[in-house]
Amino acid sequence: FFALAMNVKMYENPILKGNIEKLKKYGYKFIEADEGLLACNYVAKGRLKDEKEIVDEIERFFLYSEIENYSNLLSGKKVLVSSGRTREDIDPVRYVTNNSSGKMGYSLAQAAVDLGADVTLVSGPTELKEPSSLKKFIRVNSAEQMYQEINREFKDTDIFISCAAVADYKPKEYHNEKIKKAEGNLIIEFVRNKDILFEMGQVKEKQFLVGFAAETNDIKENALKKLRKKNLDMIVANSAFNMNSNENAIEIIKKDETSQEFSQKSKQELAYEILKVVANEINNKNKNNK
Ligand code: CTP
Repeated sequence: FFALAMNVKMYENPILKGNIEKLKKYGYKFIEADEGLLACNYVAKGRLKDEKEIVDEIERFFLYSEIENYSNLLSGKKVLVSSGRTREDIDPVRYVTNNSSGKMGYSLAQAAVDLGADVTLVSGPTELKEPSSLKKFIRVNSAEQMYQEINREFKDTDIFISCAAVADYKPKEYHNEKIKKAEGNLIIEFVRNKDILFEMGQVKEKQFLVGFAAETNDIKENALKKLRKKNLDMIVANSAFNMNSNENAIEIIKKDETSQEFSQKSKQELAYEILKVVANEINNKNKNNK
């Protein structure tokens, strides 16, 4: 592993970039530098990553290097991930949202990078740090903004993993001024947001669609309904009570409705398991088409 730290001009030098690419081919790993104050007093890219993040990268390596053919498993694949909650504004100071931390989606985006994919992450509000080496990172707030971004990226995507906890409803009206309290109750009317995954299921061509179902009850039954209704290739069923946790237990249900259970593990470990199943399904599909 090389953890990079240097002057920004050197960092951007094509000779250095070429040498890094060469070394990557021999199996060396590079931990990109952060932006920040450099020793030469510039504020730019070239600052050594935080120690914790360097340790995280190395720890992840010990997880994914166990996977057979890990560096090529998703190489050349364009992966689009949606993650986090959405925020639906009521007035300039109030909004409705949900409990999703975004950890599963961020772990999946990072795992897809680790397994060689070009990854775009569309994220609603979260407190998490951006995964490293993404191709594109797009921040949004509302479900409508998330829909616009996903819709734009979708055509040029091989695998779409819809992990975001998208609000199903938004306030019918946005108040430009703060709502003042008055006598009696306040009633806010909500209208439906687009179901982003359902919409993508209607227009999909080559894309492999993975949905999530976070349920409080009848987990498998509800997940199966969503798999069929949204025209998915796979759905990951899990308990909504794990939304904010670092760990989860899941059941992966495939289009043919066979399923595989994974017991309680870290979300990062589960992310590799999910992507292994996805890669396997895509390979089988390609073999059958030949
Ligand atoms: N989803 C989406 N857009 C929405 C709602 C959900 O893209 N407006 C996606 C989620 O990212 C997830 C899947 O659909 O992959 C299932 O989301 P979930 O909230 O579990 O289910 P809903 O379809 O919203 O159904 P319900 O809330 O009635 O359980």
